Amino acid sequence: MTKIRIAVQKSGRLNEDSLAILKDCGISIDNGKDQLKATSRNFPLEVFYLRNGDIPQYLRDGVVDIAIIGENVLIEKGKDISIAERLNFSKCRVSLAVPKGVTYNSIKDFEGKKIATSYPNTVKEYLASKGVTAELHIINGSVEIAPNIGLAYGICDIVSSGSTLFKNNLKEVEVMLKSEAVLAVSPTISEERKELLKKIQFRIKSVLQARN
Ligand code: PRP
Ligand code: MG
Repeated sequence: MTKIRIAVQKSGRLNEDSLAILKDCGISIDNGKDQLKATSRNFPLEVFYLRNGDIPQYLRDGVVDIAIIGENVLIEKGKDISIAERLNFSKCRVSLAVPKGVTYNSIKDFEGKKIATSYPNTVKEYLASKGVTAELHIINGSVEIAPNIGLAYGICDIVSSGSTLFKNNLKEVEVMLKSEAVLAVSPTISEERKELLKKIQFRIKSVLQARN
């Protein structure tokens, strides 16, 4: 039987809520925590646990058919990938921040400065739209530490509760975009799997309605 293949974040903030929504859709997954692939017992679906940043490429290549992913990741590296549903969880902002002690006036303050980030495309596009040129320092995690160790003037990263900024003595000065978890679809999904996607979408819609 044909199964639809879904990518879910392997570990991190999206993982739990992603599995929870599948569960609420009545899709149960046998979950060996260390397994990178799992199969549903009661729906023709396979789950692939992947790193967030790799998911757009897997969708593009058709290695997976759909994914639960932060919209911010699609904006950063999956603009060609379409969104089937917005999922109303994992809400966050992608923002610029600077040390608390810095007097900040406007985006022009970033001119010629160094910004540490895991979202280079998003920052570049935002700065270009404001006519500002800055130097980017690309790092994959713990971005908020960069200004404190003299690596950058400011940072661009995800802000959710704001506690990471707070703990690192930073303040949010520009909100570049708002994001939430979405159901993304591979451009190469087959007709047969599209039918399975429709069933999942139908269930998701009623789950989201019931949650409201
Ligand atoms: C994410 C993100 C921010 C933080 C935002 O990092 O990169 O640092 O969460 O959440 P908050 O506003 O609620 O504090 P994560 O903890 O996933 O670790 P990483 O950056 O090292 O991947
Ligand atoms: Mg972080």
